[in-house]
Formats: sequence, structure tokens, C-alpha cells
Amino acid sequence: EQAGHGAHAAGGAASVAGGPGTTDVTALTADPDRPADVRVEFVARQERIDVPGGRTVDGYTVNGTSPGPELRARQGDLVEVTFVNESVVDGATLHWHGIDVPNAADGVAGITQDAVPVGGRHVYRFEATDAGTYWYHSHQVSHVQVERGLLGAIVIEPADPPEVAADAEATALLHVYGGRHTVNGRAEDARVAAEPGTTVRVRVINTDQGTAAVWSAMPFRVVATDGHDVHEPTPIDGERVLIPAGGRADVAVRAPDDGSAVRLHTGGRSVIVGGPAASAPPPAAQPSRTLDLLAYGSPEPLAFGTDDPDREFDYVIARRFGIVDGRPGNFWTVNGRMFPDMPMFHVREGDVVVMHVRNDSGDVHPMHLHGHHVVVLSRDGIAASGSPWIVDSLDVHPGEAYDVAFVADNPGIWSDHCHTLRHAVDGLVAHVMYE
Ligand code: C2O
Ligand code: CU
Repeated sequence: EQAGHGAHAAGGAASVAGGPGTTDVTALTADPDRPADVRVEFVARQERIDVPGGRTVDGYTVNGTSPGPELRARQGDLVEVTFVNESVVDGATLHWHGIDVPNAADGVAGITQDAVPVGGRHVYRFEATDAGTYWYHSHQVSHVQVERGLLGAIVIEPADPPEVAADAEATALLHVYGGRHTVNGRAEDARVAAEPGTTVRVRVINTDQGTAAVWSAMPFRVVATDGHDVHEPTPIDGERVLIPAGGRADVAVRAPDDGSAVRLHTGGRSVIVGGPAASAPPPAAQPSRTLDLLAYGSPEPLAFGTDDPDREFDYVIARRFGIVDGRPGNFWTVNGRMFPDMPMFHVREGDVVVMHVRNDSGDVHPMHLHGHHVVVLSRDGIAASGSPWIVDSLDVHPGEAYDVAFVADNPGIWSDHCHTLRHAVDGLVAHVMYE
């Protein structure tokens, strides 16, 4: 079975080997006695959804809409979501993409829980320890359920002021429905009101299966990647920012002093910041130069050393033409193996782990590690020279080799897979497992 990605739910949540005995991952939870600060119910339905332009497509909704409601909490809050599956026939789960939740709350069907059947419910509890921009989505038959809209935005508001203060903020959740680009579920450009001279933080979330580009004719700053603040971000001009599938970029846009509007291109639609209603600057051509986040912002010491890691792993991605389950096609391997025939990366709690990720496959893969955030150390032998670039979703292009590091500080079994979710179904899923 393809855990969380395949056609049907695998049965039985897994166990983690834990010293002499074994620990059921379902024991890895947030403090069960702590009352929730934020408590919501999310009801998933399978239904036809309206696509802008007067068509309907097969899709999924959360509380009646796609994207579902934005989940908002303050840093430190205990969040409790009761997930109800009203009519998703394949079963469904919720995964909190980018949030380092306890393993039992990770929402991966076949690994940390069974898919919730029609008529069933599941309670997720986690502490929102890190501020930032995240999203939730189903992790059951995810290449279908995510593409068809079983998802929504998450914003964790910071307990302390962020490095770049903003006067206002807005969410721009990007998703393609039935071939139509949308922002926050609408096919029109989004508008954010802003007084002249003020700064707006736009939280751009790429929920699609490929890379999204963000650019503007006006300078702007990238103030966070995947929920983590960039240290001393400088204005960028004439470059685009690329957001991997699953990734987020928070950008700070300044409304011009003369009262005019700024157009921020985000994938297929724009976010118009400031200016009089109904006026918008004309579209600008997409720059061909791409901001290199490896050298953006200024350095800051990491909380852990990476010169002498406790574990080092190779994660080599390749392509294999073949026939699997009678289906000929193009499959993806990690270190020569395809999921589920794939050894796990074993770690111990407290380990500093360095992964050498290399892409020999000829196609781009947005790699996503659950439950941890990862710092990018180098690309093709060139060391990071900017702000610590912290990600949970990283585009690895053909021929590229990245060294990334993380601290094993969250026991459990964690997926480390491609977020072009069709690639995950076709083999590109590994797991990090705590001993
Ligand atoms: Cu956003 Cu395992 O996925
Ligand atoms: Cu891929």
C-alpha cells in the first residue's frame, strides 16, 4: 500500500521501535490534560464544486468551501481540530503541512492513523510552537484529494513581533481547480486595502503540484520561507521568487506614498495592494532571474552545529521506467528503491542529521520532510551565505545536489517525500524513523 498516497487506506497505524519495547505512534501526542485554546470542527465532503467561469468539477470541501476555512492561532496555543468525514468515499485525513506536530497528529493515512471513513471522526491536537504560514490538507489518496481541494490555510500569529513589522497582512492561497488559477478560491485578482506608505505582509501558499512564481514591478522583500523569518531581508528588484509545491513565501509589499497600487504576481493571479478600488497597475513580465535564497538576507548562527553530524544519509533520486502492478510507466526511486520497498532513515532523538540530496532523475522534485524543519547548508558544493534558509519544501532540480540538516527532536515516523503528489504515488516516498 502507498501510505497516504495510494488508492486506498492502508490498515493499521505503525509502531516505532523504542528501546526494549515498542511505542505506538498514537501515544506521541500533545499534553492530553491541557485544555485547547483554539477548538474547531472541520467537516469534509465530496461534492461538485463551482469553478470560476461557470463550470463545476469533482472536488472536496471543508465546511462547505474549497479552500476550507483559514485556521488561525497564536504561537503557543493548543489547537484542537475535530475532523469529520461526511462523504469522502476513499476516507480522508488532515495533515498540518510544515507544522512540527506530535507524530500521532501528523495525519498520514497508513502511517500515523487509518484514513477516517465516511461517518467517522478524528481529533487532532497540537501546540502551535512556531509562528508562520502553513496549510492543511488530506493525506489520503493525496494526489487526488489535494488537487481537488481538500485543503486550507493556517496562520500562526507570532507571540513576539516579527523581524519585519507590517501594518496589515493578507493570505494568498494559490490553487488550480479544473485548469483555472485561483487566489483564495477566486479567479479574480485579490485586493488588499492599504494606506499609502504602509507595509502589507502577503502570505503566499502554493498548494499546487508544481512551482509557483512571485514577482512585481515594484521592489518587495521575502520576509519568511516556509513559516520561518528571513534575517535582514533586502528589497529585491527585477527578480522572481519561486515557491515549490507545498511551500510558502511571506512577502512584504509597501504601498506607494502617492496612493497608487502595487501588483504582486502570484502564479496565475495577482494580489493588488493599496490604491483606489478598481484601479490596478498593468501586468508586468515575469523576470527571468530568480532570487537565490541560498544567498538572501544576512547570516545568523544556527542553534546547532553541523560540522560533525550524528547521522549522514544519502538521498539520491532517480527515474526508473518499468511496470508496477501491471501498470507501465515512469517511476521514481530513492537510493535505487521505490516505496514501499524502501529502507527507513534511522535516527535517535537529539541527533543532528545531515542529508545529501541528489537529483539524478531528470525532473524537478519538491521534497518535503514532515515534523521537522530543515536548514539548507549548500547547493552543488556552494555553501549558504545568507540568512539561515529554513524549509520544509525544497525544489531539487535535475542535476542538483543539496546538503540539508535538521535536529531529530520530534520522535515518530515521518514521511520525506515529493510534493508533486503523483510522484509520491509513483515511488518517491521515504521515511525518517526514530529508534
Ligand atoms: Cu503536504 Cu506529506 O505532505
Ligand atoms: Cu517529484
